[in-house]
Amino acid sequence: MKCGLFLLLLSFATLGSKAIKRDDFPEDFVFGSGTSAYQVEGAAAEDGRTPSIWDSFVSYGYGNGSGDVASDGYHKYKEDVKLMAEMGLAAYRFSISWSRLIPNGRGDINPKGLEFYNNLIDELVSHGIQPHVTLSHFDYPQLLQDEYGGWLNRRIVDDFTAFADVCFSKFGDRVSHWVTINEANMVGINGFGLGSVPPGRCSHPYGNCSSGNSIFEPYIVAHHVLLAHSSVVSLYRSKYQGSQRGSIGLNLIIFHFEPKSNSTADQHAGERAWDFFVDWMLEPLTHGDYPETIKKAAGFKLSKFSHDESDQLVGAFDFIGLNYYAVLDVEDCPNDLPPYQRDVMGDMSASLPGFQKKGMPSKPQTLERAASGLRAVLEKMKQRYNNPTIYIHENGLPLKHDGSFNDTNRVKHFIAHLESLHDAMRNGSDTRGYFTWSFVDVLELFQGYEASFGLYYVDFNDKERRRYPMLSSQWYSNFLKRGQNMF
Ligand code: NOJ
Repeated sequence: MKCGLFLLLLSFATLGSKAIKRDDFPEDFVFGSGTSAYQVEGAAAEDGRTPSIWDSFVSYGYGNGSGDVASDGYHKYKEDVKLMAEMGLAAYRFSISWSRLIPNGRGDINPKGLEFYNNLIDELVSHGIQPHVTLSHFDYPQLLQDEYGGWLNRRIVDDFTAFADVCFSKFGDRVSHWVTINEANMVGINGFGLGSVPPGRCSHPYGNCSSGNSIFEPYIVAHHVLLAHSSVVSLYRSKYQGSQRGSIGLNLIIFHFEPKSNSTADQHAGERAWDFFVDWMLEPLTHGDYPETIKKAAGFKLSKFSHDESDQLVGAFDFIGLNYYAVLDVEDCPNDLPPYQRDVMGDMSASLPGFQKKGMPSKPQTLERAASGLRAVLEKMKQRYNNPTIYIHENGLPLKHDGSFNDTNRVKHFIAHLESLHDAMRNGSDTRGYFTWSFVDVLELFQGYEASFGLYYVDFNDKERRRYPMLSSQWYSNFLKRGQNMF
């Protein structure tokens, strides 16, 4: 045999034996994919739905597009569920639009909204797919924003709990996993500090960066987010969990923060970045109070929890959901940031160009680096919070669709991240599921229809919003059905 050929065969054999397989994960490990209501449903003005803060956000020119029609998931849910079943997905993560179910924010339930989510859930269950349902994915009725400022007002805690009560009572008999708030740690910082997600406070026209308010807003909002989350968990546990037996948790965006240098200042900056992104939410949920770093940085801007609130917060999750996309470089550069960011972002550097201003960069780092960041994050979660149950709720790669369906890079992305996840689990991480983002192309949060994350491509110029399988959908299906490795 010629030496070159021998080497080639050898390298395939090594790759093949190492390549990650479905059977490397426990039988009950859940593989799924996800979307969110505003990003996929469309039918924005149909059947009694009222505008949400996301509709307003895009109407102010943010987000590069509108979800008026989006991927038309509202009308195409049966087709989508059929594709999921054919692919072999065990679970689908989606969110309920509060504006569709309770259009006025409080009070009457919209029968059409009820019917839609009942149908979607029934369709999933009848195909053997677990519904993992998020209650707030960057949206709530605009009416509540207009009436009292949404997350800025403590009234949201009661209204959100009442909305959750309706969801639990109407859908809970079939829902295996509830997620209270998507990217709970983004809501305050980005929604009310940087203005990059709905409702876009601060950077959009009615945000007022020069007013004293914006300095307080991220802290006020994060406080209400935590109280609303724990109130909903407490309701679920006391009224529903015994009979419905689902589990409930919170979702966070998470990064692996990598200090740019070995200097003590940069190392401390890395720690503080974690404090501001993760501990801000998880310290109250594990120890009943904010971390010292945040207290020190925020001073009087930070509200205090009462004894009862602390008690309700501690342990208020069955699992933590993580959306993982990137490693972030961190350096100690607090003075480079405008005042309202200085507290909030602490020391996040702008060393990934455009990340903070424009959202996710298409090639933030090498695949190896991004994938190993997932392992590092899971290790840190394990050590810092006593090994909580984790679901990777989002992981994916945005591409600019160029007419090709061979998203080989995305397949490599999934393989590398699954390998990293598998390593973390071998090391003891209690991760129970992995969801790709997104199932079909959706209105992307930052790049609108310019960035395509879907296992299925959607032609947004086509009125029918037809779905076309990307190579990654075939790869995922093959992986799930224990077929031959394609790579
Ligand atoms: C974060 C959000 O949960 C989702 O809405 C967004 O589309 C993706 N990650 C990608 O940016």
